[in-house]
Parts: sequence; C-alpha cells; structure tokens
Amino acid sequence: MIASTVFILSCLYGLSHQAEWSYDFETLWPGKCTTGQQQSPINIMTRDTVLDVSGTHIQGPLVFRGYSNVKLSAHNNGHTLRWDNVDGNPPPVLMGGPLIGNYTFMQFHLHWLSEHAIDGIKYPLEIHMVHIKTGLTVDEAVTRPDGLAVLGVMAQVVYGEGSSFALDQIMPMIPEILASGKRTDPSSIDLSRLFSPEPQSYFTYHGSLTTPMCQEVVTWIVHDKPLLISDDQYKIFGEVDVGGIDNYRSLQRVNRVVYRSMASCAFSLSPSLLSTLAGLFHCVSTRVTSSIGKGLCYILNFKRKFFGNAVKECSKVAIS
Ligand SMILES: *[C@@H]1O[C@H](CO)[C@@H](O)[C@H](O)[C@H]1NC(C)=O
Ligand SMILES: [Zn+2]
Repeated sequence: MIASTVFILSCLYGLSHQAEWSYDFETLWPGKCTTGQQQSPINIMTRDTVLDVSGTHIQGPLVFRGYSNVKLSAHNNGHTLRWDNVDGNPPPVLMGGPLIGNYTFMQFHLHWLSEHAIDGIKYPLEIHMVHIKTGLTVDEAVTRPDGLAVLGVMAQVVYGEGSSFALDQIMPMIPEILASGKRTDPSSIDLSRLFSPEPQSYFTYHGSLTTPMCQEVVTWIVHDKPLLISDDQYKIFGEVDVGGIDNYRSLQRVNRVVYRSMASCAFSLSPSLLSTLAGLFHCVSTRVTSSIGKGLCYILNFKRKFFGNAVKECSKVAIS
C-alpha cells in the first residue's frame, strides 16, 4: 500500500527522473528517516543542554590538522552544492573534543536555510563538513554509531563591506554549478576560512544524516558562533537548482542529551550581531506566539526578501 503510493507520487511528480527523494515529500523518505529515534537536525535549546564541566564527554579541545590548503572539486548533486576532497591529496584530519580517535575530512556542502536551529532561531546558511572515522570505508561507517563526525557552521548575512571573506574563495565556483549534475575542476581552498569564529564553542550530540537513508551514525558538532557572509554572496543561492525551493530537512524530535562545550559559556556578541538579533525579535509577526515560531518566521520572511514568495509556510517548519 505504502509502496504503491510512493510509486504513484513518483510518477505524478517525476521524482523518479531526477532523484529518488525530495525535500517536498519528507514523509516518504525511507528507512530510519521515518522510524528512527535519534534523527537530525534538531532545535538546540541552550537551557536544555548539558555543560560538560567534568570533561567526561568532551575531552580536550577539538584539533584541526591540514585544513589550510585542500584540493577540492565542487558539484551540484541535485540536492546541494558539495565540495569533495580530491583523491591523492592528504585529507584534513579532525580529532579531540567529543571524538574518540581520528576522523578524515571527506566533503563539505551547504544548506540554505540552516538545518539546525539554536534557541528556535534558524540561520540563512549552514555548512556541513563531513568526516569519516579514519580507516573505515563509507559502507562500514554508515553501520557504526561512531562512523561519521559532521561539523555544522552557521552563517549570518550582513549588509555591506567586510563580510565576504569566509566565502570569497568558493564563490567563483558556484556559477559553474548552478545546474544539477555540473562539476568543477579541482582548486585549492583554505577550509579554515569556513570555521566558526570560535571553533571551540559548540554543541554536540549523537544523531543522523539529514538525507536518506538517515543513518544514526553521526557525532554532530554544531558551532553556535556564526560566520558572516554578505548579502551579495547569499543572493546566488536562489539561482541554484536543488530540485525544489528548499534544501533543508524539517526539525526532528530531540529525545536525547545535547552537550555544550565549556567555551560556549563565554558568550560574547559583536555590536552588529547584537543589533541583528534585536531586529530579529522586533520584526516578527505578532500573530505568532511561540518564540520558536518567531525565529523561524523571521528567517522565512528574510528569505522571501531574497528568493521571492515561494517558501515553505511557517506551519510546515514548526517543531513537531
Ligand atoms: C590520530 O592521528 C595522530 C596524528 O596523526 C596520531 O598520532 C594518532 O596515533 C592517531 N590516533 C589514532 C587512534 O589512530
Ligand atoms: Zn548536510
């Protein structure tokens, strides 16, 4: 019955031609995506997180090796823009923090809007840097709870000069890969430019891939201090073909402990960011009562400004 419904929908909407899944039909995603109990992304409420004072879960700082000069080739896979480490180059390695052992960098890709929310607020963009436990094949990694580690870095759009540094080196590649299936030649990129301004300040929890098959094999490390990008840079994402309007998965049930690194307690915001946040709560519609709805609706309105009216309604992204 379910199988035939999927089949009919696939035919109706031509899903079978482009990709076997779509952000417009998340309820039809297979396997763990609908049955799992540790799914991602989630809304991280700071007051519900556990500060790892004794250092039992987070042991020492995150250590980043070899991120400053990485040869990457970019492509549009129909769901996202993805930059893959080119074979033959020594890949960057991540260790420390909540991770046991070493994790080899594989690729980074982008979601606009962000997938995770922090205190009910989504960001315009989230960067995912995907790492695999060193020595494992992908097939092995997706069957082990500790198989993958993904860094999530938020980006905030600011207007005017001085905000284009983070994305500067990847922007020239994007016009080449607006269409699904396109790929660029490799080029060298300083991945550390895409790190959060405070890379030791993060939340961490055990969750899943946010695309099918949604395997629950990911140690998530979600940084709370956003990068800045410029409004000019952000505009181009409205032209990228990702099969639909959006490329982020809905928020999933939390169901578990989210840890917070000690460094995330030193809460400091730049004056410009503070005014952005103040503006955020000022501009929201009064018809939306929960603070979670406020953040999401604000950011949707923000997205309308860039990409036009055809965005998901607030009700569709409300916390389930
Ligand atoms: C991780 O990498 C470091 C540095 O390359 C190495 O010294 C260490 O033995 C590795 N650890 C494991 C568990 O492989
Ligand atoms: Zn992702």
